[in-house]
Amino acid sequence: MKFFIDTANLAQIKEAQDMGVLDGVTTNPSLMAKEGIKGQNNILKHYVDICNIVTGDVSAEVISTDFDGMVKEGEALAELHERIVVKIPMIKDGVKAIKYFTEKGIKTNCTLVFSAGQALLAAKAGATYMSPFIGRLDDVSTDGLRLIEDIRLIYDNYGFETQILAASVRHPMHIIECARIGADVITAPLSAISALLKHPLTDSGLAQFLADAKK
Ligand code: G3P
Repeated sequence: MKFFIDTANLAQIKEAQDMGVLDGVTTNPSLMAKEGIKGQNNILKHYVDICNIVTGDVSAEVISTDFDGMVKEGEALAELHERIVVKIPMIKDGVKAIKYFTEKGIKTNCTLVFSAGQALLAAKAGATYMSPFIGRLDDVSTDGLRLIEDIRLIYDNYGFETQILAASVRHPMHIIECARIGADVITAPLSAISALLKHPLTDSGLAQFLADAKK
């Protein structure tokens, strides 16, 4: 199972990379705005800065919604660094653009997936990654993890190679359940990844061992 961090914050990306468990990064326009990254040149430079910290794939999202615009933007993003994955929304022109990039050998991440039908289309178009937003489904009283289960079954039925990248992960139980179901990748904030470390019996056990070592 791959661990991606879902942020554009360089310090948090470095911290996760230093832990030795990071396989990649996902960003989106909202995460870039949160870090105050504005203007095309700054945004492109920021993607390169991220690529220089990590050793895995870095998703960079297009903001065009028409085929020609997505192709132009995606090609420019892919030129930036070998680790860039072009992130494309699940809309009709997006599916066409994913197919186009797949045929050119450029990696894609199909984003804003909320149904098994959308996941099937992303796989048919040859997306490298496909991102169901499980937290946002939970927010509207729909079981996000159930969607991951359904997609896992569908992809396995036909041997689709598109990787299920569980996104909008909010807490450690989302990560553990995704691992149980067999998601290929999770992308999560640093807080959810770090929360996996925590157990009170580890803390009390360590305190006891250290106290006993002094005896
Ligand atoms: O990876 C998608 C993610 O950035 C969305 O997360 O918490 O805004 O639903 P959230």
